Amino acid sequence: MSIAHEETILIVDFGSQVTQLIARRVREAGVYSEIAPFNNAEAAFERLKPKGIILSGGPSSVTDDGSPRIPQAFLDADIPVLGICYGQQVMTTQLGGQVEGGEGGEFGRAFIEIAESCVLFDGLWKVGEKHQVWMSHGDKVTEFAPGFRIVATTEGAPFAIIADDEKRFYGMQFHPEVVHTPDGGKLIANFVRHVCGCAGDWSMAEFKAAKVKEIREQVGDGKVICGLSGGVDSAVAAVLIHEAIGEQLTCVFVDHGLMRMGEADQVVSLFKGHYNIPLVHLDVETLFLNGLKGETDPEKKRKFIGKTFIDVFEIEAKKVGGADFLAQGTLYPDVIESVSFTGGPSVTIKSHHNVGGLPERMNMQLVEPLRELFKDEVRALGRELGLPEIFVGRHPFPGPGLAIRIPGEVTKDRCDILRKADAIYLEEIRNAGLYDAIWQAFAVLLPVKTVGVMGDQRTYDNVCGLRAVTSTDGMTADVYPFDASFLTRVSTRIVNEVKGINRVVYDYTSKPPGTIEWE
Ligand code: XMP
Repeated sequence: MSIAHEETILIVDFGSQVTQLIARRVREAGVYSEIAPFNNAEAAFERLKPKGIILSGGPSSVTDDGSPRIPQAFLDADIPVLGICYGQQVMTTQLGGQVEGGEGGEFGRAFIEIAESCVLFDGLWKVGEKHQVWMSHGDKVTEFAPGFRIVATTEGAPFAIIADDEKRFYGMQFHPEVVHTPDGGKLIANFVRHVCGCAGDWSMAEFKAAKVKEIREQVGDGKVICGLSGGVDSAVAAVLIHEAIGEQLTCVFVDHGLMRMGEADQVVSLFKGHYNIPLVHLDVETLFLNGLKGETDPEKKRKFIGKTFIDVFEIEAKKVGGADFLAQGTLYPDVIESVSFTGGPSVTIKSHHNVGGLPERMNMQLVEPLRELFKDEVRALGRELGLPEIFVGRHPFPGPGLAIRIPGEVTKDRCDILRKADAIYLEEIRNAGLYDAIWQAFAVLLPVKTVGVMGDQRTYDNVCGLRAVTSTDGMTADVYPFDASFLTRVSTRIVNEVKGINRVVYDYTSKPPGTIEWE
């Protein structure tokens, strides 16, 4: 189920790595957008009645037999179409132009020269100017389809931007959605506003109001339970649902004792104190720690925590009595039906932990009010709902918590040591004003002891690893390049202040090949 948005842009995915960025740019322009895979786009077209269509890039070559196409009806529907890279080539081919395999292709930074004025350049680019864009293509258009004109060129792509103003069809050989095309967001905004005629007034306030109405309709006078993990997503979902249906919502906080310093208290005081939301706080640390005793295998630790979480939640949900709905903070990246050209299911790198499986077991329907949002939109909605910044801006935290940041056996002592080191690290990051520039930062307690010397005493204690990465979605990540002086300060504080740690190391591994978490 989704809100009937007045103005929507449909993004047809041909398997580009960066299709989600197109959706982001459209939404940043104040227009709601959804992504549909090319082979399942008709249904989305019917449902959304889009004001415009954007065709993504993709790894295929239009010159290959059986390569993806767009439904012809999209081109006959008298609505604007913007084709990006493969999207431009597929549109050109279907409209009667020519595409050929480029000699060696063009990858990376290129400079585009503006040849003619165009509605896409409104308030932005002028004839004769040159601007940086980002190219990534093997094939290129060599003859445009009837009705088009060239409005911009690069050395490697004579048809860098083509336009058919009458039909409102536009094609770009480069990628406007990536940050390396500095004006790309504005080009996309011009397309959705000035070509498609969208007002650009999609906002979180509107989203919130529409969702509140939708939740009321879905739930009626039924009862909803929501499992809180301490993370942003479940908290925002819960507060939104509470705004819609008040006391019909009960939150269950399974406090497994594997949270960061002070986090459990924050959840309780926010929900009970601030919002007065009915909250069942289950302190089940002993249950979890007993079950983890002696276990060192990462997957078995994850599976135990996931299963126990569900078991505890289920018992408690039954006590609440007759809940008809289960609320979850599922996000848009989890529900996008992605195009896979590699075929076959992707390998399980790690089994992620959520309350999956519960709805069927308990015969409950799902309420997932964040299904259409990206992570930073969830944060914006959280702010709209008045959630404090410390909660809303928080780095992602995995369901299995500190257990997967303590390689080897998890004990209460080791959790306490790690919590202290982690709190110092995060405090220093905040003090340095770096918290928001980092996707995730955390400490890890290694199952390794090393010799040290403090005062005149020999020590033999644990090693603490520090990790900090930048990322847009957690799928890939870069190491955050702290100054040496920052790392030295954190290391000194941790060794001096945390009993049980005598050495600190920094993790310099990107993802891939590493994962963000250590287990
Ligand atoms: P990895 O370690 O797979 O992590 O590179 C990618 C992102 O996912 C988070 N993560 C989890 N989140 N349940 C969650 O809700 C999990 O079991 C889980 N494991 C990893 C991780 O913190 C990072 O943001």
